[in-house]
Amino acid sequence: MAMKENFLWGGAVAAHQVEGACQAGGKGLSIADVMTAGSRTKAREITDGIVEGKYYPNHEGIRFYDFYKEDIALFAEMGFKCFRTSIAWSRIFPNGDEETPNEEGLRFYDALFDELLSHGMEPVVTLSHFEMPFGLVKKYRGWRSREMIGFFVRFAETVMERYRDKVKYWMTFNEINNQMILSNGIYAFTNSGILFEEGEDRLKTVYQAAHYEFVASAMTVKLGHEINPEFKIGCMAAATPVYPRTCNPDDVLLAMEEDRKNLFFTDVHARGRYPSYVKMDWERRGYVFDITPEDLAAMEQGCVDFIGFSYYLSSVMSADPKVEKLGDDLAASLDAVENPYLEMTPWGWTIDPKGLRYVLNQYYDRYQLPLFVVENGFGYEDRLEDGQIHDGNRIEYLGNHIRQMVMAVDEDGVDLLGYTVWGCIDPVSFGTGEMRKRYGFIYVDKDDEGNGSYRRIRKDSFYWYRDVIARNGVDV
Ligand code: BG6
Repeated sequence: MAMKENFLWGGAVAAHQVEGACQAGGKGLSIADVMTAGSRTKAREITDGIVEGKYYPNHEGIRFYDFYKEDIALFAEMGFKCFRTSIAWSRIFPNGDEETPNEEGLRFYDALFDELLSHGMEPVVTLSHFEMPFGLVKKYRGWRSREMIGFFVRFAETVMERYRDKVKYWMTFNEINNQMILSNGIYAFTNSGILFEEGEDRLKTVYQAAHYEFVASAMTVKLGHEINPEFKIGCMAAATPVYPRTCNPDDVLLAMEEDRKNLFFTDVHARGRYPSYVKMDWERRGYVFDITPEDLAAMEQGCVDFIGFSYYLSSVMSADPKVEKLGDDLAASLDAVENPYLEMTPWGWTIDPKGLRYVLNQYYDRYQLPLFVVENGFGYEDRLEDGQIHDGNRIEYLGNHIRQMVMAVDEDGVDLLGYTVWGCIDPVSFGTGEMRKRYGFIYVDKDDEGNGSYRRIRKDSFYWYRDVIARNGVDV
């Protein structure tokens, strides 16, 4: 069977990973602009502003700001029904706390959305995709501050009003649950503009920041529906199914606990209130937060219309101290252990297509809300051979995932709005800042040091995905 007629096949990127033009058109510095390049083994450095002599790969991105028309024409050639991107907050409010928006920034997204619509593509927009004005970090210490709610809602209201007739699908915070990975400070920075201090209780800090984000998200959902009742406004979480390593109940309970670290975020967005397991945890730890009755009322009134999520990998938990932990990985929980049944990408991410079917069912059972797979993709070091890229392993990866997704819809009855492949045109890697970790159907000639012509080249997967869309997912 095929997916429903209006199924949104497409691709996804984020503004800071593709646009470049980091100081053009009145744009302010964003948190992505102060992150240097890293690698698989070396974390990206967060600098205090731009430091001369350091390399910041997002400054140029892949120059989507200049080439968006050509790139959108390529997406149209593949038959995309939608395209997911984010609005760079710092193009609209350069420092974040201005009263009035930057008209030139607004005009850029007018042109971008018009271009998509002229090709019959539905824009799908994330409001904050690992990006906020750096000014808000310097002046307010990011989402540690309650004042952020007002700044975010002003930004959201501005763009929702402006694009009320152009954009129907919105999401508030990208992978909002990532900040629960506390071992690596990068996530608190990219999610919430928070720089941890020596010895601070990181979990407590992140819970408070998340609370302000929940309130801001709920206020945005309510406001968005007032601006245009046709809007569909979702949350966005990184879905990582957590499996117990054995049927030992200790493993099962540990996996459940780990899973809740992610589910907590979608629970709040979907139900508009805190789950009992989190309230109990706060009590046990003696945490008291700045949460007002008005906040709780706002959360109740701003439940999301759909659950947007990314899916890349699954993880495994073991309560047995003798089982070796994977350790500090950019992608996994510190307590995760190896899954002997799965292979990994060269960047250490498990490849688990069935996990996608599992998580689609898990979310649908839990919330009975429409779902949207807004990221799924294969990061790999593609080789350019005689001007061509034969990325058969990407085709295999995506094909296996799409088959599981189709089964979740056809055989399990999950209500799914669409599927957008992450990094449909090679973006700068978020985690490592590399170019060599490529995701696209379209190759971009740029290397890890920023050299290259930025020429676009169709990979084998480009033609394959065009065919998948044309057949609406049948016989992939
Ligand atoms: C998700 C993000 O975490 O995964 C994207 O929403 C990111 O921004 C993608 O690019 C892949 O991660 P990475 O680190 O390989 O770029």
